[in-house]
Amino acid sequence: MNATDPARIVLVGAGGMGGAWLRVLSAHPQVQVVGVVDLDLDRARDLARSAGTGAPVARTIPEFDGGADAIVNATVPQAHLEVSVAALERGMAVLCEKPAAPTIAEAIRMAAAAQVHGRLLMVSQSRRYGPGVAAFAEAIRAHQGGSPGLLVSEFFRAPRFGGFRERMRHVLLVDMAIHAFDTARLLTGADPVAVYCDESNQDWSWFDHDASASAIFEFPGSARYLYTGSWIAEGAETSWNARWRSVGAGSTIRWDGEAQVTVHTGAGEGTDEGEAVPVPPAAEGIEGALEVFLSALASGQTPLGEVRENIASLAMVEAAVRSARTRQRVEIADVLTDGLAVALRTEDDEARAAVLAAWSTDDGAPVFGTRTIAGQR
Ligand SMILES: NC(=O)c1ccc[n+]([C@@H]2O[C@H](COP(=O)([O-])OP(=O)(O)OC[C@H]3O[C@@H](n4cnc5c(N)ncnc54)[C@H](O)[C@@H]3O)[C@@H](O)[C@H]2O)c1
Repeated sequence: MNATDPARIVLVGAGGMGGAWLRVLSAHPQVQVVGVVDLDLDRARDLARSAGTGAPVARTIPEFDGGADAIVNATVPQAHLEVSVAALERGMAVLCEKPAAPTIAEAIRMAAAAQVHGRLLMVSQSRRYGPGVAAFAEAIRAHQGGSPGLLVSEFFRAPRFGGFRERMRHVLLVDMAIHAFDTARLLTGADPVAVYCDESNQDWSWFDHDASASAIFEFPGSARYLYTGSWIAEGAETSWNARWRSVGAGSTIRWDGEAQVTVHTGAGEGTDEGEAVPVPPAAEGIEGALEVFLSALASGQTPLGEVRENIASLAMVEAAVRSARTRQRVEIADVLTDGLAVALRTEDDEARAAVLAAWSTDDGAPVFGTRTIAGQR
């Protein structure tokens, strides 16, 4: 692909999120939508028609008859591995909806496939992108050297989704908390070491399983990230991005999850108001993810959000679920080690298995996170 040519992109998955993606892709001057793929061909056809793309449709990537630089994978998480690998095998890069996969093991196998085929596989973790989070991160860098001692997020909302979410186990942790966990990694530039998590479901809940959770993540040294959230909290609801507080030596920085970031210094009760920091415009949500993906395709640079970097966010979810189940502190390294072992057991492609074997070490857990992202490709 020439850096100035539009990227030829196939949208895979024509459901709720696929519709949002097609609008964003169609509106982008550097993107040409060259196909819409869904197991439900009528759905693919309807979506392509409604967006006026006139792009050809197909049921699967192997059945798609055309060339493309990349796909956006907006299928259900259970299909992310199969769809992403099919695209990588055909030389296409992949921008995959979150979560990368339902399990760490599958996400690790996707990462191995990206390495074998030498193509970018990036996870669209959409709440990483936006003016508020960018300004909050910048304030943490400027006032706390980028490493707060205590980071706290509160997520309290009361959605009535109906459908599968109200029947799902670990619904808050698996379906929603990954956004906050991933943001915590983005803000600190570090990966956690361990977690203790408690889940609960209050007696007025309209969810079958735990819709509330609190977790304490240990980061290297004495740094801690405290998450608390609930999906059955009516009244005074927070932003979907949660409400945040970052505490460092001599300062506290608050973000309301939207466009308000304030820096508070000095001791005492008169410090509540704080000083507002500027919040410059920035691409938000999936538009932000698309911008990062397109510039990575054009430059060949590995972006933040590349699948190996994202695995650490997925590991935070899996570790929190394991901790809540066992009521024990869980080390992230154990979750990664177990995930890699399962990936090795279940991978039947020789080249990908060789990559996985190379990631196994005798002296501790494999490291996929932010700390190793530079220079691995
Ligand atoms: N970023 C966000 O805020 C956000 C919000 C909602 C959903 N999501 C994510 O987006 C993804 C899709 O969610 P959704 O709500 O649109 O789901 P959905 O069920 O509405 O749509 C999924 C579509 O994928 C198709 N599909 C399934 N397997 C396929 C396969 N193997 N090949 C081709 N098509 C296949 C289905 O037929 C369906 O049309 C999920 O990963 C979800 O977690 C992200």
